[in-house]
Amino acid sequence: MSPSSPAASPPEVGVLLPAAGRGERAGSGELKQFRPIGGIPMLLRAIRPFAQHPRVRQIVVALPPDAAARPPAWLTDLVAERLRLVAGGATRADSVAAALAVLDRECRVVLVHDAARPFVTAETIDAVIDVAQSGVGAVAAIRLSDTLKRAHITPPGEEGEGPLTPHPSRSSLPLVETTVDRQGLWRAQTPQGFPRSFLEEAYAARAALPDPTDDAQLVERLGHPIQIVPDRTTNIKVTSPDDFILAEALASQ
Ligand code: CTP
Ligand code: MG
Repeated sequence: MSPSSPAASPPEVGVLLPAAGRGERAGSGELKQFRPIGGIPMLLRAIRPFAQHPRVRQIVVALPPDAAARPPAWLTDLVAERLRLVAGGATRADSVAAALAVLDRECRVVLVHDAARPFVTAETIDAVIDVAQSGVGAVAAIRLSDTLKRAHITPPGEEGEGPLTPHPSRSSLPLVETTVDRQGLWRAQTPQGFPRSFLEEAYAARAALPDPTDDAQLVERLGHPIQIVPDRTTNIKVTSPDDFILAEALASQ
C-alpha cells in the first residue's frame, strides 16, 4: 500500500537498521555511520525516510555496544515509542538478529536496511513494503550494466573480496580468467522486506550460513519466493573513502 492510499489498518511494518559495523574500509577514526554527509550523520539520513513513513510502526537500530550504551544526542532525541536502540553483534547477521529479537510483535512485515545507505527513496520503500505485504520477499536491486570479469587475485593473502582499489604493483594485478554473462544478474541493495515469519525462520536456521552478506540469501535457502524491486543507483552503499565523495555530491542535489 502506498502512503497516499487510505490507511485501512494500523501500521504493521517493522524496520531493522544494522548500524553496528566498524567501518574499517572507510578508513577514518570516526564511526562511518555517525559521519556527517552534507552536515547530517549518515545513520540519521538512513533512518529518516522510514521514520516519516506512515506504514512503519517501529524502527530498531543496532549499534556498536558502546554507542548503544552512550548514543549521540541526535539519536536519543529520536528515541520514542517508534525507535529503539539495541547493541549489535560481531557480524551484520548478529546485529540483524539482535534487532529482530526485540521488534514489536505487531510488526508482521519486516524491512532490513543498511545504515550505510543514506539515500534510499520513499518510492523504493513503498515498493518493497508492497511486495512483502503480499506475502513474498523483496530485494531492492540494480540490473548490472557493466561487463563482468572473473579474475584471479595472484598475491597470496589477498583472496576473498580482494583490494577495493587497483593494486599498485603490476606483477600482482589480478589476471582475467573469463567474462561472466551478465544476463539476468542484479546487484542486491537494501531495503529488503519479508513477511516476519520468513525472516524469523531464516534467522533461526542461520548457523548453516554463518556470515551472509544480505538477508535475502538466508530466506532464499528456505525456498521462499523473493522478488526483485528495481531500485535507483543513487541508493549507494557508503563503504570506501571515495564513496564519501559521491555521498557529498548526492547530498548537495
Ligand atoms: N553492520 C552491523 N553489525 C556488524 C557489521 C556491520 O550492524 N557487526 C552494519 C554496518 O553498520 C552497515 C551494514 O551492516 O550499516 C553493512 O555493512 P558494511 O557496509 O560492511 O559496514 P561496516 O561493517 O561498518 O564496514 P566495514 O566492513 O568496512 O568494516
Ligand atoms: Mg562490514
